[in-house]
Amino acid sequence: MTNKIEFPKNFWWGSATSGPQSEGRFNKTHNSVFDHWYDIDPDVFFNKVGPDVASNFYNSYKEDLEILQEIGLNSFRTSIQWTRLIKDLETGEPDEDAIRFYNGVIDECIKNKMIPVMNLHHFDLPVELFDKYGGWESKHVVDLFVKFAETAFKLFGDRVKYWATFNEPMVIVEGEYLYKFHYPLLQDGKKAVQVLYNVNLASAKVIKAYKDGGYNKDGGQIGIILNLTPSYPRSQDADDVKASEFADDFFNNSFLDTAVKGEFTKNLVSTFEKDNVIWESTDEELQIIKKNTIDFLGVNYYQPRRVKAKEIAFDGSNGWMPDKYFDNYDMPGKRMNPYRGWEIYPECMYDIAMNIKNNYGNIQWYISENGMGVEGEERYINKDGVIEDDYRIDFFKEHLEFLHKGIQEGSNCFGYHSWTPIDCWSWMNAYKNRYGFVAVNLENQKKTIKKSGRWIKEVSENNGF
Ligand code: BG6
Repeated sequence: MTNKIEFPKNFWWGSATSGPQSEGRFNKTHNSVFDHWYDIDPDVFFNKVGPDVASNFYNSYKEDLEILQEIGLNSFRTSIQWTRLIKDLETGEPDEDAIRFYNGVIDECIKNKMIPVMNLHHFDLPVELFDKYGGWESKHVVDLFVKFAETAFKLFGDRVKYWATFNEPMVIVEGEYLYKFHYPLLQDGKKAVQVLYNVNLASAKVIKAYKDGGYNKDGGQIGIILNLTPSYPRSQDADDVKASEFADDFFNNSFLDTAVKGEFTKNLVSTFEKDNVIWESTDEELQIIKKNTIDFLGVNYYQPRRVKAKEIAFDGSNGWMPDKYFDNYDMPGKRMNPYRGWEIYPECMYDIAMNIKNNYGNIQWYISENGMGVEGEERYINKDGVIEDDYRIDFFKEHLEFLHKGIQEGSNCFGYHSWTPIDCWSWMNAYKNRYGFVAVNLENQKKTIKKSGRWIKEVSENNGF
């Protein structure tokens, strides 16, 4: 077969999940904020399904990773749960069963010829640290996170060569402190800005610990996974463009600039200062952020952000919000994924690739998540029991075509990971929308490869399609 499009040599064809969404809560030492939220308010979650069993990865990781090898993946990201690995949150002392489990996962990945990529935080703060210290509002929690990371590096750094400090740190800020879609459902702009700073600091301190500990000596690398939602203004009118630039600075560049360049954007800092919500920082901390930038960037891309200038004056009765400077724009005619309510705009892959090339020193990067969650996939089961998810294959192809265009124009992208290998649990939506190459039957945990799973195998083998 001749490929229409071919990707660079050694391209990563893989897929990503996270500990809390795949493992199940079996034998965990602590509860995360999501475990806790489910325990106190199960009604919030679709069909009241919580993270207790998830996709049973804790018990079935060997079989699961074999399936991923069977569908041709050469790399795999998951996360190490702080609430599982660490027995004593203050000292960073690990739990024996968790060491056994994560060693097993890492060794099985390697045995199945998949590069393991390990992320350290996927929205799963131990709830005790929120109750005791206010979670990411506290710099003590930042230091406890560094201890957890050091424990992970010591235990697994010999075999894990790609680490991520955080997955989608902006979602912590948005979900927990601004728009109330993650526990503790706060709306407090001032705290949100402090959390934004503290999480940036935590990432830089973990990078510092990784390098100071010499874990990068054998080619180990450390990065961050950001959800980029590039802003597109409604029109080229100055007010729309300005609103769009602010949205970009707040939602994307507040982590992207610090991660790659070691600095917050000037526009953001001066806005926070003007509005009296600026964070508490020290020169020493800012130096740590400056000096400890990432080796590689992971980009989760699902949807763009459409923006317009404010039409109705900002109502400040609930305190500061970034929405003071922009309105979201409901663009007529946009293409939607109706199940998730997200716009589908594959062209953005190219724009992201060019932005990284032109404005971020063409740092090495990969797509660390991209995918399409669909409800009711049983409708597409054929007579052989296989879900024929052609819509997903088309979605991937379109996105990959635009990514390929960016690579051809020189963007330094080394891989593509879908979300997610095996259908997994989601924050509030639980198992409503399925994303996997492999389906899970929640009644009996049976796992069945979908048509897209066969497709990705061919793509991976041919390094293109
Ligand atoms: C990303 C997250 O935001 O998108 C994943 O890193 C998440 O954890 C995925 O599951 C898909 O979003 P959702 O809300 O449909 O599960």
